[in-house]
Amino acid sequence: MELVRLAEVKSQKFPRIATGFLEFDRVLGGGIVPGSIVLIAGDPGIGKSTLLLQTAMVIARGPVSRFLPASKGSAALPLEAQRSGVGNPSTTATPRKMSIVNGQMSNVVLYVTGEESAQQVKIRADRISKVTDNLYILPQTDVDAILAASEKLRPVLLICDSIQTLTTEKLSTSAGSIGQVRECGQILQRYAKSSGTPIFIVGHVTKEGVVAGPKVLEHLVDAVLNLEGDGTHAFRLLRAVKNRFGSTFEVGVFEMADSGMKEVANPSEIFLSQRISKRAGSVVTSTLAGGRPLLVEVQALCTATIFPVPTRRVTGLDFNRMQVVMAALSRSANLKLANLDIYLNVAGGLKISEPAADLAAALSIVSATVDKPIREGICAFGEVGLLGELRQVANSENRVKEAKRLGFGDFVTPVKFKTLEEAISYAVHGG
Ligand code: TYD
Ligand code: MG
Repeated sequence: MELVRLAEVKSQKFPRIATGFLEFDRVLGGGIVPGSIVLIAGDPGIGKSTLLLQTAMVIARGPVSRFLPASKGSAALPLEAQRSGVGNPSTTATPRKMSIVNGQMSNVVLYVTGEESAQQVKIRADRISKVTDNLYILPQTDVDAILAASEKLRPVLLICDSIQTLTTEKLSTSAGSIGQVRECGQILQRYAKSSGTPIFIVGHVTKEGVVAGPKVLEHLVDAVLNLEGDGTHAFRLLRAVKNRFGSTFEVGVFEMADSGMKEVANPSEIFLSQRISKRAGSVVTSTLAGGRPLLVEVQALCTATIFPVPTRRVTGLDFNRMQVVMAALSRSANLKLANLDIYLNVAGGLKISEPAADLAAALSIVSATVDKPIREGICAFGEVGLLGELRQVANSENRVKEAKRLGFGDFVTPVKFKTLEEAISYAVHGG
């Protein structure tokens, strides 16, 4: 066994391959790391194939200047990555079969599709843009055949769509079973490390127990990116839930258009674009999507109930948190909610799980209940405690900065107001 002083391990900087989407690059931690294996997970139909096909098309189009400078975003490799073999200087300083042609990396991309025919992929590609020669499609589900093709082609990026369709002859179980998913994942991971070929694996999030989902793979890939959104809205969030080569706070925002995914550079503007101001029940909050502040509108609708038990419907916010907020409202703000049906919603289909949205939700409920719009120009954020006290949340400065950029100058936050009551009396009752 070779003992190495950590101080003596050379910090390596890797050139990264740009995906063609700044948002995607950012979520990856600064582009694609050679030899890395990345899982793109999400519900069926959310746009995983579309996003990856677009990336494949951009990279295949070249030119080689698509490389991101090694210094930008790609810090010294984390220990975990070194252990996994990527950063081991003796074996991968120059990866064995990195697709280098005349000292430059090729632009060949191999897109393996186990779900669709080459024809179907072509139809999708035609919607996106012009297809170039360097993009190869392989309709194949046998993992050994895939690796053989990759060895022959030496692509700069290998995409496997999806892991649930792959099989290895080593196992007799059917595609999508836990054994197959794990085994194929391991084979691909070894290949990525030994060849230096970065691999994107698509994994459908599936109902537990039916077929093996991405969970089985999480520990053996370098990064897990979730593509989220709900089918009724065009927005898609790409969120890093694990990343050995970057921060897990990053979120990329996309919009599904007729010609594929488009990155959204100013998501706040879009999320607020359809807001009608001076409407009771509408409150703008500044939430953190990854490390980035986003302005969204929280809406409440409160109506007299006709049921013995009033309805509570929450979309885009955490239901349990909202129950606490409603309880705190009834108690500390002395609001009678028992005979009201309450509907809460985040406009635009964004899902917020952080407590910072509590205050905006509370204000929107009050505003809807008394049928009075909140003061103009208000942006509210803060956690609501059980006793109606307001608690500070992380990254206030960034939240405020983003809100100011969009013209909000009045902040209802725990910095200014200590209790729910105070915040309500200022924001709703104008006191
Ligand atoms: P897809 O990428 O196939 O999803 P996944 O691979 O995650 O299952 O995309 C699914 C949906 O996207 C499909 O219903 C059609 C729609 N779509 C667009 O709206 N615009 C496009 O340009 C493309 C290619 C697809
Ligand atoms: Mg697909």
